Amino acid sequence: MSFFRSILVTGGAGFIGSNFVHYVHARHAGCKITVLDALTYAGNLENLAGLLEDKRLKFIKGSIADAPTVREAMTGCEAVFNFAAETHVDRSIQEAGTFIETDVLGTYTLLRAACDIGVEKFVQISTDEVYGSSSGEHFEETSPLKPGNPYSASKCGGDLMCQAFFNTFQAPVVITRSSNNFGPYQHVEKFIPLFITNTIEGKELPLYGDGKHERDWIYVEDNCAAVELVSTRGRSGEIYNIAAGESRPNIEVAETILELLGAPKSRIVFIEDRKGHDRAYLMDSTKTEALGWSRRYDFRGALENTVEWYRSNDTWWRHVKSGAFRKYYDKHYKEKLEKGKTRGI
Ligand code: NAD
Ligand code: DAU
Repeated sequence: MSFFRSILVTGGAGFIGSNFVHYVHARHAGCKITVLDALTYAGNLENLAGLLEDKRLKFIKGSIADAPTVREAMTGCEAVFNFAAETHVDRSIQEAGTFIETDVLGTYTLLRAACDIGVEKFVQISTDEVYGSSSGEHFEETSPLKPGNPYSASKCGGDLMCQAFFNTFQAPVVITRSSNNFGPYQHVEKFIPLFITNTIEGKELPLYGDGKHERDWIYVEDNCAAVELVSTRGRSGEIYNIAAGESRPNIEVAETILELLGAPKSRIVFIEDRKGHDRAYLMDSTKTEALGWSRRYDFRGALENTVEWYRSNDTWWRHVKSGAFRKYYDKHYKEKLEKGKTRGI
């Protein structure tokens, strides 16, 4: 099956969503893309710079939990890619209400509209965190859900709603569950961008607990390629794991970042551990590989690319750290979006 002629990308101003928009825009010249994004603290129109002026892209500011806005955005789209979510584990430990609203109620609202409109495919972007912490076993798509924090519990709620809509209404849903992504446009609250930018700024790197928690880092472009493939070759009702297959302790990643930027290991400081901190996530992605996917980027090379990207996009991350990206939004887009302009903004 060839790629779609029109798609809705929710959360397209966030990290993975904006990478996916760039990815599809560059590869499918005939595809019209509608982005629906609430522009929360994590949504940044600078991530879509260069694309917003293009008439192939339509941008709607709004929540996936708002049914009328969702219907307006989805009408005319053949496929939906739901990247929109509250995503930061530490924030969910402080307050989880917005996580439940977006990750559960928002997903439900999208599914309702998808059934009414009759889209061809609904791709739910989920996470390895739904399986909970691994003690060495590699989770398969049939492994039980065992969320360890309020964020992953909310993502489980969205995934279960998708499965219920497939079973009850034959909604054409596929779920992707990927491991930790890294690459351009990732918010500086997350581990790798925080550690890269803190190193550049001469600050300390705050490592939680003993620093031996492990993550399986996948370069964001590899995840985008898998999501694209699952959307056209994946079977409705099925789940697809997307893992790099190379887990490594946080301290090793921190030391590699310091080495790449020529800074001493003494910049690392061990701080109080995250509450309920999952030790490791491990998944088996044989099922996705059987569709024809394999990762293209090795960790070291992709980390070098990422460090270089943050080095040469100093203004981007300084705007995020200082909150100045909001002023950029107010200056360039606020008035147009409030007047209802969605194309060529
Ligand atoms: P992000 O936090 O960078 O971006 C989330 C985007 O969603 C932002 O643009 C935000 O404005 C938007 N958003 C939030 N609430 C919204 C709402 N109610 N309506 C519309 N838009 C809303 O997130 P990310 O890291 O790019 O993650 C994208 C998706 O991938 C999420 O579903 C996440 O659970 C999943 N995921 C992320 C990773 C990772 O390592 N980052 C790994 C696996 C899965
Ligand atoms: O596994 C997929 C998940 O990866 C996604 O579903 C989430 O949306 C995404 O945020 C990410 O969750 P993590 O909690 O794994 O990512 P984070 O970048 O917050 O942390 C990565 C590891 O680094 C984790 O073990 C905690 C640790 N850490 C993080 C921060 C922010 C630190 O040691 N210090 C820090 O300051």
